[in-house]
Amino acid sequence: MKTPSLSRFLIRGAAIAGLVAAVAACTQEAPRIVFPETDLAAVPMIPKPLDVAPSGTAFGLDRFTAIYSTEALEGVAGFLSEKIQSKTGLRIPVNAEGETEVHRGIYLSTSEMDNPEAYHLRIGPDSVTISAGSAQGAFLAIQTLRQAIPETSNDTLAEYPIWPVPGGEIRDVPQFGYRGAMLDVARHFFSVEDVKKYLDVMAYYKLNVLHLHLTDDQGWRIEIKSWPKLTEVGGSTEVGGGPGGFYTQEDYAEIVRYAAERHITIVPEVDMPGHTNAASVAYPILNGNGKTPELYTGTHVGFSTWDTRKDTVYAFIDDVVREISALTPGPYFHIGGDESHVTRKDDYIYFIERVEPIVQKYGKRVIGWDEVAHADLDSSTVAQFWADEENATRAVGKGMKVLLSPARKAYLDMQYDTLSEYGLHWAAYIPVDTAYIWDPSTYSAGIAPKDILGIEAPLWSETISTIEELEYLAFPRLLGYSELGWTPAAKRSWDEYKLRLAAQTPYFKRMDIRYYPSALVPWEVPDLPEPQNPD
Ligand code: ACM
Repeated sequence: MKTPSLSRFLIRGAAIAGLVAAVAACTQEAPRIVFPETDLAAVPMIPKPLDVAPSGTAFGLDRFTAIYSTEALEGVAGFLSEKIQSKTGLRIPVNAEGETEVHRGIYLSTSEMDNPEAYHLRIGPDSVTISAGSAQGAFLAIQTLRQAIPETSNDTLAEYPIWPVPGGEIRDVPQFGYRGAMLDVARHFFSVEDVKKYLDVMAYYKLNVLHLHLTDDQGWRIEIKSWPKLTEVGGSTEVGGGPGGFYTQEDYAEIVRYAAERHITIVPEVDMPGHTNAASVAYPILNGNGKTPELYTGTHVGFSTWDTRKDTVYAFIDDVVREISALTPGPYFHIGGDESHVTRKDDYIYFIERVEPIVQKYGKRVIGWDEVAHADLDSSTVAQFWADEENATRAVGKGMKVLLSPARKAYLDMQYDTLSEYGLHWAAYIPVDTAYIWDPSTYSAGIAPKDILGIEAPLWSETISTIEELEYLAFPRLLGYSELGWTPAAKRSWDEYKLRLAAQTPYFKRMDIRYYPSALVPWEVPDLPEPQNPD
């Protein structure tokens, strides 16, 4: 049967029960299909949801399904429709008007919840309802639904393909609000397209922050209009002497836009006062290490510093922070602060304490690597614990929050083992199980759960220069970090997780992700049909 033009009523924010009832009234003549038993709890979801109650029934996703959303969630609804099409070939309309034949609906709405990322997903026989604390929560729910859609259709239930989505209810909320990844685009440059692919996968696994390490000794990768040589000169090479590259402000804005569409916050990092050789080559007036700076394509650290006692340096930083902040809607600006080995300690502290208010002036909250805790900082500033537990504990003593990225557990650039093709091992070898088997909440006795902003998995690029090499190090370990940020320890187990991880191969294949096939994981090698288009 044809639906009447319900959408005008539906879009304008009617209560979800009203939405379902209204469409149900028009769908009672839909053919009754008897599905085999399903088990929502057996779907290999990552990160594992907090609470899953299977019903044994199924929702038949097919060409007669439509998505209905409130106006505020139309972006999320459109994203779902697009992803259903790329997985199944089905073209599912959003807030369909007029002549569309609809048997079953997927309904999206928001409601008052304690956490904006919380959501409730109910997969019933005739409808799917998503109720979330915000558009962000609805977007997270959409990822759960995407993961629940089977890889292949059942073509025996009707004369057209149906994807039986296992039924039940999921109530879910993340353990930490900051679930991040970092990409070093300074040692080797990665294109906007590469970053977008990373963002696609991050979104699917519910990571919500991408920290871009935009500057280092080897390269400056973001255009600053008031200081053009930063990229003209400082962006001209990379580790190994390759051509380098940089993001124009338009490129960066495009990354920010693409991330926002996926409810991912971009955190820009300008690493200072060390790791600044590329900027000092472009503008030697900044330099403070007493030598004539030259472009650097090696991988040693700790030899560069800006002149922390020169006002020009702070005028320069003001321009850089202002221009980048204007392009960055997220709340954070990362000032680096690590491995400033040739900056005297009192100069370092003076520098960090002068830069913090510059960042705050442009409305951003400071993040710095754990060394910044030596300075007298505002309690709103975040210390990113990568190396020194004492620094992290010192930050907690100042009322600051800590972002957990301990190198020996969470650095994606550490080799899996002695045979790994790419990566380093100065902190540890990190096999896929070691990356997963630790608990951010109890990692350090001096850092209580209430002190933890979240976790982030950095990927430094000394040894990788292509997206394939990036994927070898990031996947599959990044998925484990996503689960550590989302799912409480009591619900995690490596033996169970590794089976869910093994079942991600159809997604990896669809996304053309060249993951590292660790022997610790019983991989399921997919044999997928091409997506069908029933029209
Ligand atoms: C770092 O790995 N130098 C933060």
